[in-house]
Amino acid sequence: MLPQANDPCWCGSGRKYKRCHKRSEGRVLPGVVSPVRSVPDTIARPSYADTGHVESWDESRVKTPEVIERMRHAGRVAAEILRLAGEFVRPGVTTDEIDEYTHQLYIERGSYPSTLNYHGYPKSLCTSVNEVICHGIPDSRPLQDGDIVNLDVTAYIGGVHGDTNATFVVGDVDEVSRELIRVTEECMWHGIEAVKPGRPINEIGRAIEQHAKAHRYGVVRAFIGHGIGEQFHLDIPVLHYFDPRNTMVMRPGMTFTIEPMITLGTWQHKMWDDDWTAVTADGRRTAQFEHTVLVTDDGVEVLTGGPGAVSPIAPWHR
Ligand code: MF3
Ligand code: CO
Ligand code: CO
Repeated sequence: MLPQANDPCWCGSGRKYKRCHKRSEGRVLPGVVSPVRSVPDTIARPSYADTGHVESWDESRVKTPEVIERMRHAGRVAAEILRLAGEFVRPGVTTDEIDEYTHQLYIERGSYPSTLNYHGYPKSLCTSVNEVICHGIPDSRPLQDGDIVNLDVTAYIGGVHGDTNATFVVGDVDEVSRELIRVTEECMWHGIEAVKPGRPINEIGRAIEQHAKAHRYGVVRAFIGHGIGEQFHLDIPVLHYFDPRNTMVMRPGMTFTIEPMITLGTWQHKMWDDDWTAVTADGRRTAQFEHTVLVTDDGVEVLTGGPGAVSPIAPWHR
């Protein structure tokens, strides 16, 4: 039998059980990260690919029709890779095997995996399991029956990025987690429906927060959506909660992501020692969905949607 919280730990450390092994019970533990995978020279790379150093330059938040056309293509590529990566998810597969498979999918399509060496990030997608909020690094941990996992795919092709993610179930998943996933995807769609030219951007966060609150879920504040285009992250602050000061006006031609992270418990986070992996402070589960969108003359176009994508409202959690 397991000791009580205040008993000495079974491992002989002399520490209380609650301060020792109890802390990791049921939690995701870091595994081993494999060596960096290479991308053939024939594939065009963003400027940080060789150095890990991200330079930024002036880029209009409003895109020209020519840039938008390239972003439609990058969005479709990212969406297809995400769908295929999601179909690869099953109990026993390691997140590193998902990275290896996904890495190949990017290359076959002539795209560069935008996360690879972005500020030194070592892998071709983010894999965030259970209580991991975002930016989980693929490693040797096999997915377990009952886990949930977010796959976040970003493809660089034609000089622009397309960014999209979804949360998938692994085998048989409990109803509480499935409901969290379903409502999180709904939150993203409510945010997308709030996109209209002339409106302040905080209408997006208002819609998302309202739906999350109705289900008594938390909304993560530390990570937000962003402008996107020739650069991976541009200064359009897309908060997923309502902030009256978040008043940038949405203009036709703007492109940005909407990517709410919704929690069963607290919205506050902690970082792993790798300085990438963000987890919920209470260890409870969290889900996320993401699309790259374009503000049109009368509403919104989802650049990472379409027939090749996993959404709208994915069937795998029914
Ligand atoms: N794709 C993530 C986003 O939605 C960013 C990942 S950056 C990385 O913005 F460096 F963590 F990979
Ligand atoms: Co993003
Ligand atoms: Co992303």
